[in-house]
Amino acid sequence: TLPIRIAPSILAADFAKLGQEVRDVTEAGADWIHLDVMDGHFVPNISFGPDVIRSLRPFTRATFDCHLMIAPADPYLEAFAKAGCDIITVHAEAGPHLHRSLQTIRNLGKKAGVSLNPATPPSVIEYVLDTVDLVLVMSVNPGFGGQKFVTSALDKIRTIRSMIGDRPIELEVDGGVAADTIADISAAGANVFVAGSAIFKGGKIEAYSDMIGTLRTLAEAGR
Ligand code: DX5
Ligand code: ZN
Repeated sequence: TLPIRIAPSILAADFAKLGQEVRDVTEAGADWIHLDVMDGHFVPNISFGPDVIRSLRPFTRATFDCHLMIAPADPYLEAFAKAGCDIITVHAEAGPHLHRSLQTIRNLGKKAGVSLNPATPPSVIEYVLDTVDLVLVMSVNPGFGGQKFVTSALDKIRTIRSMIGDRPIELEVDGGVAADTIADISAAGANVFVAGSAIFKGGKIEAYSDMIGTLRTLAEAGR
């Protein structure tokens, strides 16, 4: 089984000092940095794009885990690859050619992920399981941090966990991940945990470190 990874979402960080936030959360023990890209079209909010990501690259050596909430995604994949993303995840709902998007990401030399909104059934990934490195189960409707965990995600995680079998695919969960939900999410079979508000509400590196440690302990205990 793949290791537990804690991936702070900088959507909840202080945008006025993003570089320092990325450095601090890395120092505090983050495994991956989760980058939420929103276009005001696929989701009802706008965040940041490849130029901001490129400017953050020098602040950490942690894996850049890029979650594209944009449609279409294909015209921008190369820009995100060149900006320094290590993993690029597209939404299954963002276009008619998911398989092509995933192949394009791999051809750019990056790990390819597919994300599913809460209403999307697990079956949509059945024929791309050999084309993905990561599956991202959304446990809120994407667009905003700080929302309540959608409990039906747990059943979906269990289903996808069994679909994955022994393939080396990361199973990531995003939305409402916090101390009160992470053990159940881990027990359902996820190994990558995105947390935005739970971590960044602390406001300083000591609090980030405490929360990352707490989340990691609870995730390990849930296994
Ligand atoms: C939602 C984003 C999430 C979000 C999570 O559209 O994809 O990554 O930042 O925020 P929290 O952890 O606050 O639910
Ligand atoms: Zn995300």
